[in-house]
Amino acid sequence: MTCLTRRETLAAGVALAAAACTSLPQDPAGPAGAAPDSLNGLAKTKGLAFGSCLGGGKDSYSFRDPQVRALMIEQCGMLVPENELKWVALRPDAKSFDFTRADVLIAFGETHGMKIRGHTLLWHNMQWFPEWLKTYDFGPRPAAEAERLLREHITTVCTRYGTRIFSYDVVNETIDAKTGEMRDTVFTRHLGDKVIDIAFDAAKQAAPHAKLVYNDYMSWGPGNAVHRAGVLKLLARLRKNNVPVDTLGVQSHIGPGASDSTPQYGAAEDKDWRAFLDEATAMGLDLAITEFDVGDQVLPADVAVRDKMVADMARSYLDAMFSYPQLRTVMAWGLVDKYSWLRNRWPRADGLPKRPSPYDDDYQPKPLREAIAESFRAAPARASI
Ligand code: XIL
Repeated sequence: MTCLTRRETLAAGVALAAAACTSLPQDPAGPAGAAPDSLNGLAKTKGLAFGSCLGGGKDSYSFRDPQVRALMIEQCGMLVPENELKWVALRPDAKSFDFTRADVLIAFGETHGMKIRGHTLLWHNMQWFPEWLKTYDFGPRPAAEAERLLREHITTVCTRYGTRIFSYDVVNETIDAKTGEMRDTVFTRHLGDKVIDIAFDAAKQAAPHAKLVYNDYMSWGPGNAVHRAGVLKLLARLRKNNVPVDTLGVQSHIGPGASDSTPQYGAAEDKDWRAFLDEATAMGLDLAITEFDVGDQVLPADVAVRDKMVADMARSYLDAMFSYPQLRTVMAWGLVDKYSWLRNRWPRADGLPKRPSPYDDDYQPKPLREAIAESFRAAPARASI
């Protein structure tokens, strides 16, 4: 394992640098997620694997909390950096890369025997581009320059990590949920839809070992029909053109949002959702749950009632997902409520803290944790990856 250079050490902070060289002294020993009653342990007996994101930067810094690290080691067989592999974190400008924070998180996961997912080589949604990219001057041959920039980015990331990253969300969220069409970005302006094909091709060339994922947040219910149809249209086009996509990543930020027309997961939702998954798997794609949490923005204030509703919804959803043998990866988008990206986004009208994760602010397991465990226990066995 490589330690950080002096410059990187200064940038990352001394504690982080220590973590990149070995495990932090107070961290429990691995191997991670090995106990039979841990979430990953339960998943493993069915050919599934469980993991979570971990944040190592200013947006989310769960890595800094030793109790979160201990939970990761206890419960998880996989880790995905929450933000640190995104363009916005890796690319201060068009010429340079800064891998400092990504390296730290990945080294932590590896030290404890976790498998690493890469998120994401192209978050194809302008809102999340670094500022410089939004106004980048593509010069006199803009299509060639757009392709060069994209290929260089993907090749550099994939080459740096080699087989240390077993799966990449190559493209994230390129379908506009409202129109079902490709989002318009500085890349599509010059490359059209081909931007997606180029991204997968570059990833395949630089990481031939890796599972390559198209990742998105489409969900069930009539309000999401356009999004689902748009994703299927894209996937069908990619398959037809032999673009090397292996897996549909289903983000799985479930739970009733204020504007969500389908707050529950019942029989009607199950029908819509399975029709979608059936079509995707019929194309030969695998499935992965890449960012699981349960939003509680509009659920009742009472914590016991709220936690139970969250857990019940998770249970129905996960049971449906686990009925697909093509699904082997289950990633939570954070283990502990207080570090969840949902904590301060889309706040509750009553101002109460949101509780979308399997563990509460005191690192205690919630009914959601038990629901995930129960779904793993009930899942049909499948061949593991
Ligand atoms: C989120 C992170 O959790 C936040 O810390 C960050 O501010 C914004 O991005 N879909 C995705 C993830 O694909 O990358 C997002 O992560 C959550 C929604």
